[in-house]
Amino acid sequence: MTIKENISLQSFTSFGCNETSRYFTSVASADAILEVLQWCKEKNIPYLILGTGSNVLFTKTYEGLILKNEIAGIVKTNETATEVFLSVGAGENWHHFVSYCVQKGWGGIENLSLIPGTVGASPIQNIGAYGVEVQECIQSVTALDTLNDQWVNLSNHDCAFGYRDSLFKQQKNRYLITQVHFVLQKQPHLRTDYGAIKEVLHEKNIKNPSMADVSNAVIQIRNAKLPDPAKLGNAGSFFKNPSISKTDYEKLALQFPQMMAYPISDKAYKLAAGWLIEHCGWKGVRKGKVGCFEKQSLVIVNYDHASGKEIFDFSEEIIQSVLQKFNLLLEREVNIF
Ligand code: EPU
Repeated sequence: MTIKENISLQSFTSFGCNETSRYFTSVASADAILEVLQWCKEKNIPYLILGTGSNVLFTKTYEGLILKNEIAGIVKTNETATEVFLSVGAGENWHHFVSYCVQKGWGGIENLSLIPGTVGASPIQNIGAYGVEVQECIQSVTALDTLNDQWVNLSNHDCAFGYRDSLFKQQKNRYLITQVHFVLQKQPHLRTDYGAIKEVLHEKNIKNPSMADVSNAVIQIRNAKLPDPAKLGNAGSFFKNPSISKTDYEKLALQFPQMMAYPISDKAYKLAAGWLIEHCGWKGVRKGKVGCFEKQSLVIVNYDHASGKEIFDFSEEIIQSVLQKFNLLLEREVNIF
């Protein structure tokens, strides 16, 4: 176990801010995690597990130990005529895993192509895009429960998945995920109903898309709409799309008839936060080193070595203006430390 001190987090987070961590180490096995946690306990310092740092913003020095999760491996544990079961190390790159499955013809996660991050981070915020959420393919999650240092295998139900939400978000930092167990389909029902996917397939004149066609369409849409974190610091959607009651929606829609929204049940609507932010005039606005991305207002970008605090303050300005104009309180999707 090698523990480094005062490490810049710039290259370990997709925002690329120069905040530091008091201690830093990498772990490539479940045993190594136990050893590192023991070290933290003895020193009585907090710890945080980090994948590729693509959904996190540090606004100050992290006064504990950051464990970079590098647990690897994609193992087929079982298969039937229609399904394949895979156990995947939490440190595997998400998109690499998706590409591997698409190539093998195992379906269910192709709409989640190109999402930055690791496999271990995918259940935490129940990543979702283009009509699919990862919870649909997760069978269970292996994690260390740090309350009692017991290894647990949490079923899909135990994970309490919701929109960009799960047990792991509700009980922040309690569970250290080491493996995610997936069930994928050999004859998947491809999900092409999301407007943007339909448009790309139509443009390319693809009538009977394959899994690879859907994955490529998603990659094309993401590349056209979302900034590449390797070129421009960002953490994808900075805010969640808010849900409101049908009654509140109907009142708001009278005032803003063009507002983008869709029903999620008989009683609730989900609103497009990107639309709300854009209609407060933020789209493409840059203030100093930080800005609201020109092609998708849900994304905040680090143009030029902004600090985490500057990004956080910018997000607060957006929240306040949406609150003033629409009387809606946006929630951050990105984890703030
Ligand atoms: N919209 C605007 N202005 C904007 C952005 C969006 O008017 O600046 C409108 C669009 O015209 C569209 C609607 O809002 O009618 C939805 O936009 P989009 O399809 O881009 O999706 P989103 O709701 O803005 C969500 C996810 C994304 C995911 C896409 C596609 C959240 C918080 N974000 O964005 O996830 O890629 O759907 O499924 O749910 C992420 O989580 O990091 C992420 C990028």
